[in-house]
Amino acid sequence: MTRKRVAVLISGRGSNMAALIEAAKDPAYPAEIALVVSNRPDAGGLMTAKANGIATVVIDHTVYGKDRAAFERAIQAELESHRIDIVCLAGFMRLLTPWFIDRWPHKLLNIHPALLPAFKGLDTHKRAIEAGAKVHGATVHFVVPEMDSGPIIIQGAVSVRNDDTSDALAKRVLGVEHAIYPQALKLVAEGRVTVADGRCLIDGKPVPDPGTLRPSA
Ligand code: GAR
Repeated sequence: MTRKRVAVLISGRGSNMAALIEAAKDPAYPAEIALVVSNRPDAGGLMTAKANGIATVVIDHTVYGKDRAAFERAIQAELESHRIDIVCLAGFMRLLTPWFIDRWPHKLLNIHPALLPAFKGLDTHKRAIEAGAKVHGATVHFVVPEMDSGPIIIQGAVSVRNDDTSDALAKRVLGVEHAIYPQALKLVAEGRVTVADGRCLIDGKPVPDPGTLRPSA
């Protein structure tokens, strides 16, 4: 088995990146984390990546000002020089343009802390509580130009409690994120995920029911 070479793009603490690094320590896992890219020099996840012996690069978006094309070309050049096969966004807080996204068809994944298409954007946990949602969760999906959209690979759900705070809910959802991102990357690295009519198929079939991990208490 040739393991796929994966780059993880981060902006902050990198706990999802760490979950992917841990999963890839299993020699049977079909992907290796070959590169971590951060757009912020102070991202905590850079230390974790280095401590695991993973190559890191900082591409500081502030250096490029409004020139998003130059910022993305710099990222793309690093991905190519590290011979990357799959890119995982993990708390990467920059919107990517179609130019970049088109370079990674069905090879660019994102994790979002909500059950898409509900609660796109920021402050998802607070908004879920305010909306009275009883079930909330996380989604791994392929990236398309529209923000927090794109074919859903895996979702995981948690119950929302009547006395939940957004911090408490965020913590439980984060646990789900750390479980589903390695699962989704595994499926993609094994070449088992295709897209038809905007929906993911696994082994050519619809994602098995129930299609999400069951809500945990
Ligand atoms: C995660 O909860 C991730 O789902 C979210 O940022 C957090 C990053 O945490 N991503 C988004 O909101 C993207 N729209 P991490 O750096 O510890 O993985």
